[in-house]
Amino acid sequence: EKGVQVTNPLPLSAVILAAGKGTRLRSTLPKVLHSVAGKPMLEWVLQAARVAGCEHIYVVVGHGAEQVQDEISADDVTWVLQLEQLGTGHALLQVKDHLKSATTLLVLSGDVPLVTPETLDRLAVAARSNWGSMVIAEMEEPGSLGRVVASQNGNLERIVEVADATAEELENPWINAGIYALPAPGIFDFLCDLKPDNAKQELYLTDALTAAADDGKSLAMVALEEAEEAFGVNDRLDLARVHGVLLRRKAESLMKEGVSILDPSHVVIEADVEVGRDSVLHPGVSLTGRTRLGEGCIVHQGAWLRDARLGDGVLVQPYSVLEEVEVGDACQIGPFARMRPGAVMKERAKIGNFVEVKNSELGAGVKANHLAYVGDATVGENSNLGAGTITCNYDGLGKHPTEIGKDVFVGSDTMFVAPVRVGDGAMTAAGSVITKDVPAGALAIERSEQKNIEGYGQRKLERRKARKK
Ligand code: UD1
Ligand code: CA
Repeated sequence: EKGVQVTNPLPLSAVILAAGKGTRLRSTLPKVLHSVAGKPMLEWVLQAARVAGCEHIYVVVGHGAEQVQDEISADDVTWVLQLEQLGTGHALLQVKDHLKSATTLLVLSGDVPLVTPETLDRLAVAARSNWGSMVIAEMEEPGSLGRVVASQNGNLERIVEVADATAEELENPWINAGIYALPAPGIFDFLCDLKPDNAKQELYLTDALTAAADDGKSLAMVALEEAEEAFGVNDRLDLARVHGVLLRRKAESLMKEGVSILDPSHVVIEADVEVGRDSVLHPGVSLTGRTRLGEGCIVHQGAWLRDARLGDGVLVQPYSVLEEVEVGDACQIGPFARMRPGAVMKERAKIGNFVEVKNSELGAGVKANHLAYVGDATVGENSNLGAGTITCNYDGLGKHPTEIGKDVFVGSDTMFVAPVRVGDGAMTAAGSVITKDVPAGALAIERSEQKNIEGYGQRKLERRKARKK
């Protein structure tokens, strides 16, 4: 800040306006709880306010207030209730009695979630040498955003809301982002004087700023380099657009850190996801929640992961679904595999197509390559589960465990009727229904003896051929 004349060295606080109904979303959910890139919109704004270093954060809630407070768990927030939503000016006024001392208020909108902490820093700096400051942007399609008119000296002259603008005023591409740094208590004088004499019959915060400018207060305008930061969410189209920006930002930041994303516009990677370098993500991959991938993983087309923890060098084949699971280094999964909550694979374990694993641990090097259900089971290292292996864990009343030791060979189509145990190095014969424990090293075979009827097939075949003639 060298060379900047500081006339306003007040501490920073933030106010987030989040009481509006968001009628145009046509939703039962309060607008600011709508999720973008895996987080409620309000959460994104809160995060920006936190990083910007605000001492206090006030969130003005009204429509669906209880639901908003329940959903957003934040100890550092002071909730301020706006009982009737009479406009943005009225919303900000609600904070007045909560403030204990003079401060610079960063005023943010709960429905403008793309704002970055860097922009808030610039805004705060501008406010230090002026009465206040605001974020503006030049937009190709300014839509329903308020238009900003500058005075001779480049500060704000007035803001015109679209509902009240003339056709000529709508030509103006410079918009109000709805993000301000304003002096408190100074701003409240102007808010108290607001009148709802406009098309929406609301108390516009923007009118208070125009009034302040008329009164000779200098409001510096901070122009965005990337206008998209000012995208607001008033309807579902806006929601999709903002979601897209956040996903692109996340994909770009991962690529900068050394992750390959083959088609960045066709992946969904939510905010809290971590991916180690040299991992490769194919198109159509979704990494959501708190998913974490190690280095050198490959995730193929159509895989969907939520809260999955993967080690290094894991291969996830197409169309696999992993949810609340842990996967060790060098494991292989899929295609078409499903790991449900509580599934754990130790290093080098492998599950193939149409294998479902739930609340079970597969030891190191375990293989279940085809068509199996493994639920409430533990499988010791290097055991092999043949095609069609099923743990019958549910007897209609409760779930029961299956314990399989290490180096066990499970024949195809074995049913384990739980609870049941199989010792180390044991085998089961294909097609066996195992209801009793199998000792270590034993072979369990449970099926009727095979009968061969000599010549039967041959006779059938000859009769068929004779009929055809
Ligand atoms: C507002 C600005 C507009 C700006 C745009 C930026 C006004 C009058 N207009 O328009 O100049 O271009 O934001 O996105 O300020 N809210 C309350 N209580 C209320 C009304 C609104 O808390 O009584 C909250 C809403 O929940 C929302 C925010 O304030 O988070 C903005 O309100 P909204 O009605 O969406 O204003 P815009 O018409 O988008
Ligand atoms: Ca809005």
